[in-house]
Amino acid sequence: MIDQQINLPYFDTLFTLLDNGHPEIDLAFGRHVHWGYWPNPEKALNTPEDFRKAAEQLTYEVYSAANVKDGQSVLDVGCGFGGTIASLNEQFSQMNLVGLNIDERQLIQARKKVVARDVNTLRFEQGNACALPFADESFDVVLAVECIFHFPDRRQFFEEAFRVLKPGGHLALCDFVPIDLSILFMWFNSKFNFFKSSFYGDFDMRYTTSRYRQLAAETGFAPLVERNITANTLPTYKFLWTLAQTWMSNSPAAFVQTFNTEWLSRLGLLNYMIFSYTKK
Ligand SMILES: C[S@@+](CC[C@H](N)C(=O)[O-])C[C@H]1O[C@@H](n2cnc3c(N)ncnc32)[C@H](O)[C@@H]1O
Repeated sequence: MIDQQINLPYFDTLFTLLDNGHPEIDLAFGRHVHWGYWPNPEKALNTPEDFRKAAEQLTYEVYSAANVKDGQSVLDVGCGFGGTIASLNEQFSQMNLVGLNIDERQLIQARKKVVARDVNTLRFEQGNACALPFADESFDVVLAVECIFHFPDRRQFFEEAFRVLKPGGHLALCDFVPIDLSILFMWFNSKFNFFKSSFYGDFDMRYTTSRYRQLAAETGFAPLVERNITANTLPTYKFLWTLAQTWMSNSPAAFVQTFNTEWLSRLGLLNYMIFSYTKK
Protein backbone atom coordinates (compact mmCIF):
# COMPACT_ATOMS: atom_id res chain seq x y z
CA MET A 1 0.00 0.00 0.00
CA ILE A 2 1.31 3.44 -0.93
CA ASP A 3 1.36 5.80 2.05
CA GLN A 4 -0.81 8.64 0.79
CA GLN A 5 -2.92 10.33 3.44
CA ILE A 6 -5.87 12.48 2.55
CA ASN A 7 -8.06 14.58 4.80
CA LEU A 8 -11.69 13.72 3.94
CA PRO A 9 -13.89 14.18 7.05
CA TYR A 10 -17.08 13.57 5.03
CA PHE A 11 -15.81 10.11 4.13
CA ASP A 12 -14.88 9.48 7.81
CA THR A 13 -18.51 10.32 8.71
CA LEU A 14 -19.79 8.14 5.89
CA PHE A 15 -17.69 5.16 7.03
CA THR A 16 -18.96 5.55 10.62
CA LEU A 17 -22.59 5.73 9.47
CA LEU A 18 -22.23 2.76 7.13
CA ASP A 19 -20.49 0.72 9.88
CA ASN A 20 -23.32 1.56 12.31
CA GLY A 21 -25.95 0.40 9.84
CA HIS A 22 -27.94 3.29 8.34
CA PRO A 23 -29.86 1.73 5.44
CA GLU A 24 -30.94 5.10 4.01
CA ILE A 25 -27.31 6.32 3.93
CA ASP A 26 -26.21 3.06 2.34
CA LEU A 27 -28.93 3.37 -0.29
CA ALA A 28 -28.09 7.00 -1.07
CA PHE A 29 -24.26 6.95 -0.80
CA GLY A 30 -23.15 3.31 -0.75
CA ARG A 31 -22.50 3.27 -4.51
CA HIS A 32 -21.96 6.87 -5.65
CA VAL A 33 -20.71 9.68 -3.43
CA HIS A 34 -21.77 12.65 -5.50
CA TRP A 35 -24.70 14.95 -6.26
CA GLY A 36 -27.74 13.70 -8.18
CA TYR A 37 -28.97 14.63 -11.67
CA TRP A 38 -32.73 14.90 -12.23
CA PRO A 39 -33.87 15.30 -15.88
CA ASN A 40 -37.04 16.90 -14.38
CA PRO A 41 -35.95 18.48 -11.08
CA GLU A 42 -39.54 19.43 -10.20
CA LYS A 43 -40.36 15.71 -10.08
CA ALA A 44 -37.66 14.84 -7.49
CA LEU A 45 -39.17 12.69 -4.71
CA ASN A 46 -36.68 13.43 -1.92
CA THR A 47 -36.27 9.77 -0.93
CA PRO A 48 -33.06 7.70 -0.69
CA GLU A 49 -34.28 5.53 -3.60
CA ASP A 50 -34.90 8.56 -5.79
CA PHE A 51 -31.54 10.08 -4.82
CA ARG A 52 -29.72 6.83 -5.68
CA LYS A 53 -31.36 6.88 -9.12
CA ALA A 54 -30.38 10.52 -9.62
CA ALA A 55 -26.77 9.82 -8.56
CA GLU A 56 -26.68 6.98 -11.11
CA GLN A 57 -28.00 9.39 -13.74
CA LEU A 58 -25.22 11.91 -12.97
CA THR A 59 -22.64 9.20 -13.61
CA TYR A 60 -24.36 8.39 -16.89
CA GLU A 61 -24.34 12.07 -17.95
CA VAL A 62 -20.59 12.32 -17.30
CA TYR A 63 -19.50 9.17 -19.10
CA SER A 64 -21.87 9.91 -21.99
CA ALA A 65 -19.95 13.17 -22.47
CA ALA A 66 -16.89 10.97 -23.15
CA ASN A 67 -18.76 8.81 -25.74
CA VAL A 68 -17.91 5.58 -23.91
CA LYS A 69 -18.36 2.50 -26.13
CA ASP A 70 -18.04 -1.28 -25.86
CA GLY A 71 -14.49 -2.57 -26.03
CA GLN A 72 -12.77 0.45 -24.45
CA SER A 73 -10.22 0.89 -21.68
CA VAL A 74 -11.62 3.36 -19.14
CA LEU A 75 -9.86 4.90 -16.15
CA ASP A 76 -12.08 6.41 -13.41
CA VAL A 77 -9.90 8.71 -11.29
CA GLY A 78 -11.09 9.43 -7.72
CA CYS A 79 -13.40 6.42 -8.03
CA GLY A 80 -14.96 6.51 -4.54
CA PHE A 81 -16.71 3.19 -3.79
CA GLY A 82 -16.48 2.20 -7.46
CA GLY A 83 -19.99 3.29 -8.51
CA THR A 84 -18.98 4.62 -11.93
CA ILE A 85 -16.93 1.49 -12.66
CA ALA A 86 -19.94 -0.61 -11.52
CA SER A 87 -22.22 1.29 -13.87
CA LEU A 88 -19.85 0.88 -16.85
CA ASN A 89 -19.45 -2.80 -16.01
CA GLU A 90 -23.25 -3.23 -16.12
CA GLN A 91 -23.82 -1.20 -19.30
CA PHE A 92 -20.88 -2.15 -21.58
CA SER A 93 -19.04 -5.25 -22.79
CA GLN A 94 -15.42 -6.14 -23.61
CA MET A 95 -14.31 -3.34 -21.29
CA ASN A 96 -11.04 -2.91 -19.42
CA LEU A 97 -12.10 -0.86 -16.37
CA VAL A 98 -9.72 0.66 -13.84
CA GLY A 99 -10.69 2.68 -10.75
CA LEU A 100 -8.04 4.79 -9.03
CA ASN A 101 -8.31 6.38 -5.61
CA ILE A 102 -5.88 7.93 -3.17
CA ASP A 103 -7.84 6.51 -0.22
CA GLU A 104 -7.23 2.79 0.30
CA ARG A 105 -10.26 2.48 2.65
CA GLN A 106 -12.62 3.31 -0.23
CA LEU A 107 -10.82 0.89 -2.53
CA ILE A 108 -11.34 -1.96 -0.04
CA GLN A 109 -15.09 -1.28 -0.24
CA ALA A 110 -14.99 -0.93 -4.04
CA ARG A 111 -13.25 -4.31 -4.43
CA LYS A 112 -15.95 -5.94 -2.27
CA LYS A 113 -18.86 -4.25 -4.02
CA VAL A 114 -17.92 -4.40 -7.71
CA VAL A 115 -17.25 -7.71 -9.46
CA ALA A 116 -16.45 -7.85 -13.18
CA ARG A 117 -19.06 -9.42 -15.44
CA ASP A 118 -17.38 -12.20 -17.40
CA VAL A 119 -17.29 -10.00 -20.53
CA ASN A 120 -15.21 -7.31 -18.77
CA THR A 121 -12.06 -6.98 -16.72
CA LEU A 122 -11.77 -4.54 -13.85
CA ARG A 123 -9.40 -3.56 -11.08
CA PHE A 124 -9.02 -0.89 -8.40
CA GLU A 125 -5.65 0.70 -7.67
CA GLN A 126 -4.34 3.19 -5.17
CA GLY A 127 -2.67 6.32 -6.50
CA ASN A 128 -2.75 10.07 -6.93
CA ALA A 129 -4.65 11.74 -9.76
CA CYS A 130 -1.69 14.03 -10.33
CA ALA A 131 0.84 11.21 -10.76
CA LEU A 132 -1.11 8.47 -12.53
CA PRO A 133 0.58 5.06 -12.14
CA PHE A 134 -0.12 4.02 -15.76
CA ALA A 135 1.78 3.84 -19.03
CA ASP A 136 1.47 6.48 -21.75
CA GLU A 137 -1.46 6.03 -24.16
CA SER A 138 -3.09 3.21 -22.20
CA PHE A 139 -6.74 4.39 -22.00
CA ASP A 140 -9.52 5.41 -24.43
CA VAL A 141 -11.34 7.37 -21.74
CA VAL A 142 -10.39 9.07 -18.46
CA LEU A 143 -13.21 10.12 -16.08
CA ALA A 144 -13.15 12.25 -12.94
CA VAL A 145 -16.61 12.34 -11.37
CA GLU A 146 -17.02 15.13 -8.81
CA CYS A 147 -13.48 14.91 -7.46
CA ILE A 148 -11.17 17.27 -9.36
CA PHE A 149 -11.67 20.03 -6.73
CA HIS A 150 -9.77 17.78 -4.26
CA PHE A 151 -6.78 17.20 -6.53
CA PRO A 152 -3.60 19.08 -5.58
CA ASP A 153 -3.33 20.68 -9.04
CA ARG A 154 -5.79 20.64 -11.98
CA ARG A 155 -3.04 21.31 -14.51
CA GLN A 156 -1.00 18.30 -13.35
CA PHE A 157 -4.13 16.15 -13.57
CA PHE A 158 -4.90 17.36 -17.12
CA GLU A 159 -1.27 16.68 -18.17
CA GLU A 160 -1.43 13.21 -16.65
CA ALA A 161 -4.80 12.46 -18.25
CA PHE A 162 -3.38 13.61 -21.60
CA ARG A 163 -0.33 11.36 -21.17
CA VAL A 164 -2.29 8.18 -20.36
CA LEU A 165 -4.95 8.74 -23.06
CA LYS A 166 -4.57 7.28 -26.53
CA PRO A 167 -4.67 9.84 -29.37
CA GLY A 168 -8.34 10.68 -29.99
CA GLY A 169 -9.24 9.55 -26.45
CA HIS A 170 -11.64 11.49 -24.22
CA LEU A 171 -11.45 13.09 -20.79
CA ALA A 172 -14.77 13.86 -19.02
CA LEU A 173 -15.34 15.39 -15.60
CA CYS A 174 -17.84 17.31 -13.52
CA ASP A 175 -17.01 20.14 -11.15
CA PHE A 176 -18.44 23.06 -9.13
CA VAL A 177 -17.45 26.09 -11.21
CA PRO A 178 -17.84 29.70 -10.02
CA ILE A 179 -18.66 32.59 -12.31
CA ASP A 180 -15.81 35.09 -12.40
CA LEU A 181 -17.39 37.58 -9.95
CA SER A 182 -17.93 35.06 -7.18
CA ILE A 183 -14.25 34.13 -6.89
CA LEU A 184 -13.66 37.01 -4.47
CA PHE A 185 -16.42 35.77 -2.15
CA MET A 186 -15.03 32.23 -2.30
CA TRP A 187 -11.54 33.48 -1.52
CA PHE A 188 -12.82 35.33 1.57
CA ASN A 189 -14.79 32.29 2.57
CA SER A 190 -11.72 30.08 2.44
CA LYS A 191 -9.49 32.61 4.27
CA PHE A 192 -11.91 33.31 7.10
CA ASN A 193 -12.89 29.81 7.98
CA PHE A 194 -14.32 29.85 11.52
CA PHE A 195 -14.01 26.11 11.86
CA LYS A 196 -10.81 24.24 12.65
CA SER A 197 -11.39 21.84 9.81
CA SER A 198 -13.41 21.68 6.64
CA PHE A 199 -16.07 18.94 6.53
CA TYR A 200 -15.38 18.42 2.83
CA GLY A 201 -11.60 18.26 3.38
CA ASP A 202 -9.22 20.21 1.16
CA PHE A 203 -10.93 21.51 -1.95
CA ASP A 204 -10.62 24.32 -4.47
CA MET A 205 -13.83 25.56 -6.08
CA ARG A 206 -12.33 28.66 -7.67
CA TYR A 207 -11.70 27.33 -11.18
CA THR A 208 -13.88 29.19 -13.67
CA THR A 209 -15.08 28.04 -17.11
CA SER A 210 -12.63 30.41 -18.79
CA ARG A 211 -9.75 28.88 -16.81
CA TYR A 212 -10.91 25.41 -17.90
CA ARG A 213 -10.93 26.59 -21.54
CA GLN A 214 -7.42 27.94 -21.19
CA LEU A 215 -6.17 24.84 -19.38
CA ALA A 216 -7.59 22.53 -22.06
CA ALA A 217 -5.98 24.57 -24.84
CA GLU A 218 -2.61 24.67 -23.06
CA THR A 219 -2.53 20.92 -22.36
CA GLY A 220 -3.50 19.85 -25.89
CA PHE A 221 -7.19 18.99 -25.46
CA ALA A 222 -9.94 20.01 -27.89
CA PRO A 223 -13.24 20.88 -26.14
CA LEU A 224 -16.11 18.45 -26.73
CA VAL A 225 -18.87 19.14 -24.16
CA GLU A 226 -19.33 22.15 -21.87
CA ARG A 227 -22.65 21.79 -20.09
CA ASN A 228 -24.21 23.67 -17.18
CA ILE A 229 -26.39 21.18 -15.28
CA THR A 230 -26.86 23.21 -12.07
CA ALA A 231 -30.68 23.20 -12.25
CA ASN A 232 -30.71 19.41 -12.63
CA THR A 233 -28.62 18.94 -9.47
CA LEU A 234 -30.44 21.31 -7.07
CA PRO A 235 -32.82 18.68 -5.53
CA THR A 236 -29.63 17.21 -3.99
CA TYR A 237 -29.70 19.93 -1.30
CA LYS A 238 -33.26 19.23 -0.19
CA PHE A 239 -32.31 15.59 0.16
CA LEU A 240 -29.12 16.41 2.12
CA TRP A 241 -31.11 18.58 4.55
CA THR A 242 -33.65 15.78 5.04
CA LEU A 243 -30.82 13.55 6.26
CA ALA A 244 -29.05 16.36 8.15
CA GLN A 245 -29.82 14.95 11.61
CA THR A 246 -27.98 11.76 10.65
CA TRP A 247 -24.85 13.13 9.04
CA MET A 248 -24.39 16.75 10.13
CA SER A 249 -25.33 16.74 13.79
CA ASN A 250 -21.72 16.85 15.05
CA SER A 251 -20.37 19.19 12.40
CA PRO A 252 -21.25 22.89 12.19
CA ALA A 253 -18.77 23.05 9.28
CA ALA A 254 -20.88 20.51 7.36
CA PHE A 255 -23.94 22.69 7.84
CA VAL A 256 -22.29 25.97 6.83
CA GLN A 257 -20.33 24.58 3.87
CA THR A 258 -23.39 22.80 2.47
CA PHE A 259 -25.53 25.91 3.01
CA ASN A 260 -22.95 28.10 1.22
CA THR A 261 -22.67 25.72 -1.72
CA GLU A 262 -26.44 25.52 -2.05
CA TRP A 263 -26.98 29.27 -2.02
CA LEU A 264 -24.08 30.10 -4.31
CA SER A 265 -25.64 27.58 -6.71
CA ARG A 266 -29.21 28.85 -6.34
CA LEU A 267 -28.03 32.43 -6.89
CA GLY A 268 -26.24 31.45 -10.10
CA LEU A 269 -22.75 32.19 -8.72
CA LEU A 270 -21.57 28.60 -8.63
CA ASN A 271 -22.43 26.27 -11.51
CA TYR A 272 -22.35 22.51 -11.66
CA MET A 273 -20.60 21.80 -14.99
CA ILE A 274 -19.80 18.78 -17.12
CA PHE A 275 -16.74 19.21 -19.33
CA SER A 276 -15.30 16.78 -21.83
CA TYR A 277 -12.35 16.95 -24.19
CA THR A 278 -10.62 15.02 -26.97
CA LYS A 279 -6.89 14.40 -26.98
CA LYS A 280 -5.73 15.97 -30.23
C1 LIG B 1 -16.87 13.34 -3.88
S1 LIG B 1 -15.90 11.89 -3.94
C2 LIG B 1 -16.40 11.23 -5.52
C3 LIG B 1 -16.17 9.75 -5.59
C4 LIG B 1 -16.61 9.10 -6.90
N1 LIG B 1 -15.99 9.72 -8.06
C5 LIG B 1 -18.10 9.15 -7.03
O1 LIG B 1 -18.56 9.96 -7.85
O2 LIG B 1 -18.79 8.40 -6.34
C6 LIG B 1 -14.23 12.47 -4.28
C7 LIG B 1 -13.24 11.34 -4.45
O3 LIG B 1 -11.95 11.86 -4.86
C8 LIG B 1 -10.94 11.06 -4.25
N2 LIG B 1 -9.68 11.81 -4.30
C9 LIG B 1 -9.41 12.98 -3.67
N3 LIG B 1 -8.16 13.40 -3.96
C10 LIG B 1 -7.62 12.48 -4.81
C11 LIG B 1 -6.37 12.36 -5.47
N4 LIG B 1 -5.42 13.29 -5.32
N5 LIG B 1 -6.16 11.30 -6.27
C12 LIG B 1 -7.12 10.35 -6.43
N6 LIG B 1 -8.32 10.41 -5.83
C13 LIG B 1 -8.58 11.46 -5.03
C14 LIG B 1 -11.50 10.83 -2.86
O4 LIG B 1 -10.87 9.82 -2.16
C15 LIG B 1 -12.96 10.52 -3.20
O5 LIG B 1 -13.12 9.18 -3.52
